[in-house]
Amino acid sequence: MVVTESIRIERTKHSRISQVDFANLPFGKIYTDHMFMADYRDGEWKNSRVVPYGHISISPATPAIHYGQAIFEGMKAMKSPSGDVLVFRPADNWMRLNVSGERICMPPVPEELFMEGLSTLISLDQNWVPKDEGSSLYIRPFLFSADEYIGIRPSENFTFMIILSPVGPYYSTPVKVKIETQFTRAAEGGTGYAKAGGNYGAALYPAKLAQDEGYHQLLWTDGKTHQYIEESGTMNVMFVVDDTLITPALSDSILAGITRDSVLKLARKWGMRVEERKVSVTEIMEAARNGRLREAFGAGTAATIAHIELIGFEGKDYYLPAITERKFANKVYEELEGIKRGTRPDPFGWITKM
Ligand code: COI
Repeated sequence: MVVTESIRIERTKHSRISQVDFANLPFGKIYTDHMFMADYRDGEWKNSRVVPYGHISISPATPAIHYGQAIFEGMKAMKSPSGDVLVFRPADNWMRLNVSGERICMPPVPEELFMEGLSTLISLDQNWVPKDEGSSLYIRPFLFSADEYIGIRPSENFTFMIILSPVGPYYSTPVKVKIETQFTRAAEGGTGYAKAGGNYGAALYPAKLAQDEGYHQLLWTDGKTHQYIEESGTMNVMFVVDDTLITPALSDSILAGITRDSVLKLARKWGMRVEERKVSVTEIMEAARNGRLREAFGAGTAATIAHIELIGFEGKDYYLPAITERKFANKVYEELEGIKRGTRPDPFGWITKM
C-alpha cells in the first residue's frame, strides 16, 4: 500500500500567531496556522497535505454527520527548556486510533502517515507550542467517513486530519463530580472503549443535567447494575483508599486512557500498591464517609491529573481531603509534567522529539 507520497505543504500567507495571548490560553478555542489532511480513496491513503487551518468542505450526505462514523484522539506536545518540541506517547495514540477505527469499520491509519503528518505539521507550527507551565499544545487527530451516501453501510472513503490547539488547563479548578446511576454512557458489547464521537455526544445530556446542579462532570457507572464505577467521560478515574491506588479495570465500556496507563506505571515503579479491578460505588462512598478515601482524581490527556474536590451521590455531597494533602496525585502530576517537558528523566521512553 502506498502510504505517504511526500506530504504537500501549502503555507499560510497570514499567520495569526501575533493575535494569541499565550499567558491566558483557554482550552480548545484557538487553532494554529496549519492542519494536516489525507484522503482514503480506492483502498489507499492519498493526497497527504499540510494546508492553512480553515473550514473544510464535505458532502451533506456524509455518514460522519448522519451516523457518527467518526473517531478522534487527544495528545499533547510541550516545549523543553532548550526549545525542543516533545510529544507524549504518540505511538500509543496512533494504536488506539486504529483500535477505535476497527470497531466502527474504518481503515487503519498507517503509523508512517500518522507520525509524518504529525511531525510535518508540528515543525511548521512549532512557534505555537506554549512554553509556560500549565499550558501545552493539544493535538487532535481525527478520522471520519467521507462517502456521499445515506444508506447504512461501512463507508469506502475517509478523511484523516490533525489540528493543533495551544491550550491552558481543561479544568481550571478541582472538579465536583456526581455518581450517575440512571443514565448509561456505555454498555457491555458497545463502543465505550473506542474514542468514537458518538460516545461523547450521547453523554452530553446527562452531563448537562449534572452541570445544572453545580457539578463539572459525571462519574459513570456500569450500564447493567449501576453499582460499579467506570470512568468520567472526559477522563479515567482513580482513588487512593488508605495507601492503595484503585482504579476500575479496563473493559469494553471504559476508554484505555494513556494518562491512566502512565499513572499506573509510575505508581508501580514507586512501589505503591495498585489495584485494577471492579470498583463498587458502595466501597468508595463508605471510604469517603469513614475518612479512608484520601484522594480521588481524573486522569486524561486534556484533563491531565484533575483533583476531585467532592463526590455527589444520592443527593448528598461528600467532600474529600484538602488538595494540599493529596500526596500521590500531586506527586504524579509533577512527575508527568516534568517528563512531558523534558525536565525529569523519561524511564519508559514516552517522549518523542519532533
Ligand atoms: C482528551 O483528553 O484528549 C479527550 O479527548 C477528552 C476530551 C474531553 C477533550
